[in-house]
Amino acid sequence: MQEPRAHWSSNVGFVLAATGSAVGLGNLWKFPFITFENDGGAFVLVYLLCIAAVGLPIMMAELLIGRKTQKSVVGAMKDAIGPAWGVVGAWGVLCGFILLSYYTVIAGWSLHYFARTMQWTFGGFPAGFSTGDLFGAQAAKAGLQLALSLAFSVATVAVVYFGVQKGIERIARLFLPILFGILLLMLVSALGMSGSGEALVFIFRPNFAELEPSSVLEALGHSFFTLSLGMGAMVTYGSYIARHQSIVKASALIVVFDTLIALIATVIMFSVIFSVAGMREQVGASTVGMLFISLPELFYTQVPFGRILGPLFYVLVALAALTSTISLLEVVASYVIDEHDVDRHKATILCGAAIFAFTIFAAISFGSAPFFSTLAIFEGKTGWFSTADHFVSNWMLPTGGLAITIAAGWFMTREETRAELADGNEPGWFSYGAWRFFIRYVAPAAVGAIVVAVLFFGRDFS
Ligand code: PHE
Repeated sequence: MQEPRAHWSSNVGFVLAATGSAVGLGNLWKFPFITFENDGGAFVLVYLLCIAAVGLPIMMAELLIGRKTQKSVVGAMKDAIGPAWGVVGAWGVLCGFILLSYYTVIAGWSLHYFARTMQWTFGGFPAGFSTGDLFGAQAAKAGLQLALSLAFSVATVAVVYFGVQKGIERIARLFLPILFGILLLMLVSALGMSGSGEALVFIFRPNFAELEPSSVLEALGHSFFTLSLGMGAMVTYGSYIARHQSIVKASALIVVFDTLIALIATVIMFSVIFSVAGMREQVGASTVGMLFISLPELFYTQVPFGRILGPLFYVLVALAALTSTISLLEVVASYVIDEHDVDRHKATILCGAAIFAFTIFAAISFGSAPFFSTLAIFEGKTGWFSTADHFVSNWMLPTGGLAITIAAGWFMTREETRAELADGNEPGWFSYGAWRFFIRYVAPAAVGAIVVAVLFFGRDFS
């Protein structure tokens, strides 16, 4: 027996939950790193353009498909567009499954680093200690990695188990204000450091001479990842919006919060890193280097109030990651609940366990199991973790996103989408005609360019 569909308790609750999904490791780990790799300024500007011209319209499209149908992603695509479109929904569920299976591993690291930084806060940072060695050693310990990711998976399952209002919304209401508070504290401290001026220039002064075509694709790809688009997370969250709540305003808020938090996090990290001579050259080498190698040490040696901010920073990473992992599990679980008539408790535990079976492969792919650590399918991506991340970010999200924008722009009528967006009051700045233009032409063209680049030219933009 299906229960009546659950709804967010209010618009604020919904905006917080969706912002929680959007704000995650993408903001704290990926964005600062790719901004660094792509030389800042011009890349950031292109990224902002992608967010506004592609991300925002698709966010509205996903939410409107969800709210209109009141179903999780497979049923929603079937109902809103046509039975064959269930495939696009299934692609999204698969994407959520894979993405969650490896995302949990990095999320687990935040727990380990929280424990470590607490140790240093109370016991002092050991002189001459190498955080680079520490990182390599912890990542290669299979038992530790399994324990950390299991802990994170259990936390994720525990939240989703309690459902939309009592689980997801409650956690978002509690965590997001804390997350924002910690971020602001860190910003104040970081802006006082000597490297902050240079950091701001690096991030906000565009130098188009340094912009490469691959950076444009990378910016576009990341705008999907960071906004949780292209795989149905926002369709699913949208399906819990009650009628007469504005989708347009909510979309704008989610997008603005997510972007703001990514920029603040980047300003903080670069201010710290640029304050230390020679550090800028060192951090470039690896995706995880900034978050788990450079920063932990710098907190204790450079940052004002770093002894307090160090552990707080990893609390921030863990909270941000958890509000994202719950949205990923919700996509998979709600599909099982809606389409296979399984009750929430059972569905959550089953899906969580099935996904964890694959988390194991990602967890042991940092040196502890040779096969999973050396697997190389995509050029330049070694190991199960990097392979999965490459496949999701470069193949799954862009193709899923393309299908969704075509569905909303070309397979739903003007009357249908118009009515859905108008229900709940369109704010004064919103123009339906502009949205329709972006969703029909701008977004498909831009996303189509990524898909073609990835599929036919193998362009790497992760
Ligand atoms: N947006 C999340 C982040 O930035 C990742 C995510 C992608 C979550 C897709 C849900 C769905 O970390």
